[in-house]
Amino acid sequence: MVIDVILGLQWGDEGKGKIVDYLATQYDVVARFQGGPNAGHTLKFDGQKFVLHTVPSGIFRKELINLIGNGVVIDPITLRRELGGLREAGVEYADRLLVAKKAHLIVPTHRYLDAASETAKGHAKIGSTLKGIGPTYMDKTGRNGLRVGDILLEEFQERYNTLKQKHLGLLAALPNIDFDLETEEKKWFEALDSLRSLKMVDGEYFINQQLAEGKRVLAEGAQGSMLDIDFGTYPFVTSSNTVTAGVCNGLGVAPKNIGEVIGITKAYCTRVGSGPFPTELFDEDGEFLRKEGQEFGATTGRPRRCGWIDLPQLKYTIMLNGVTQLVITKIDVLNKFEKIKAATKYRYDGQVTDRLPYDLCGVPVEPLYKSYPGWKQALDGVMDYDDLPVNAKAYLATLEHHLGVPITMVSTGPERKSLILKGVEATV
Ligand code: GDP
Ligand code: IMO
Ligand code: MG
Repeated sequence: MVIDVILGLQWGDEGKGKIVDYLATQYDVVARFQGGPNAGHTLKFDGQKFVLHTVPSGIFRKELINLIGNGVVIDPITLRRELGGLREAGVEYADRLLVAKKAHLIVPTHRYLDAASETAKGHAKIGSTLKGIGPTYMDKTGRNGLRVGDILLEEFQERYNTLKQKHLGLLAALPNIDFDLETEEKKWFEALDSLRSLKMVDGEYFINQQLAEGKRVLAEGAQGSMLDIDFGTYPFVTSSNTVTAGVCNGLGVAPKNIGEVIGITKAYCTRVGSGPFPTELFDEDGEFLRKEGQEFGATTGRPRRCGWIDLPQLKYTIMLNGVTQLVITKIDVLNKFEKIKAATKYRYDGQVTDRLPYDLCGVPVEPLYKSYPGWKQALDGVMDYDDLPVNAKAYLATLEHHLGVPITMVSTGPERKSLILKGVEATV
């Protein structure tokens, strides 16, 4: 069997959690392959709302196995809080939530380093979620990190102390920030018990065994392709490979085993944190998108920057990921617009093109827009693609035409059931 992938094609928060939760019933395993508690994946069903940071979004579907893959970085404190939330909601996860031994651990001083280095950058700050992501991946590639499997070692405390001392040395060279290491350290060591209570596995053997047995596996991306460490708007990116290629090293599967790649984009565009955003709106339309779309970060609560959909940007990430299906989310947020815009080309360096420049941060890019008529009606209760307003279908057909990938799902609201499968009536 092959592994299907769901990932975000913009700057994150495309609605990955909702779509993974919906599709999970078609799979036996859902696996996170990168990122960590910087992610906030929102699920809404039966009048309840959950935000997951580390745990895969298949956890609410009974029977399904969920794997936190080796490419993920785990903060035991966040994980413990998340597991507490699951228990409160009556979710039985004990036998269904596995964690790869090779996943790296976020320690409290990683978070302090994140905060201190952001302070040092001043105006040039990345706008990190301050969850310690960058410093943890730095220790991973710098070959200093601590991994989940290490907590079983006798010398774990010693290894932790060595890493802590290294961090304290680095912190001394950075701007002063307030922290209470003793308290956080105590919490962190207590939280390791939650991690120990989970099934630790050799993730790469586990996943390949599942595939060999004919099990259906879905990889759940975090962040978005424009935040990819190699291809995103560097340096305003996260520290992992968020694109399809990240599935291979984040889970230990071979490229030939990648199946469908389901790319998610909002019907418009958002970004949280600093960095270039060519179609960002600073007018009342941007404000309206933020209000109507409830565009506030699921992890940090920060207001998200809003703008029109950016087709050159999407063509780029579709290319990078080998997207085979498109999911359009939050189309309902456009319900009240008279006119809807989409950037179809960029102008920079005296040329009109749909290619992104080497460095979006360094080149002033002028997006060239086309306008499309709005549909000016609510989409509540629309469950069939054919029942969408004519102008909504025309807008979606335009996106499909420009992007060259079939749209297979359209999301019309935050709830699990607010989803239209193109050509098929949705079942929840
Ligand atoms: P993720 O990080 O990609 O999982 O996305 P987030 O959960 O951070 O942000 C998406 C937000 O949009 C959440 O608040 C979802 O409940 C909400 N959402 C998802 N799909 C839709 C939709 O089709 N319409 C509306 N209005 N909200 C949606
Ligand atoms: P999900 O999975 C949106 C952004 C941060 C910041 C940059 C680096 O919910 O889509 P980091 O904490 O990784 O050092 O932050 O990346 N960012 C996200 N933006 N959604 C996310 O995750 C994000 N994870 C990180 O705002 O600009
Ligand atoms: Mg999110």
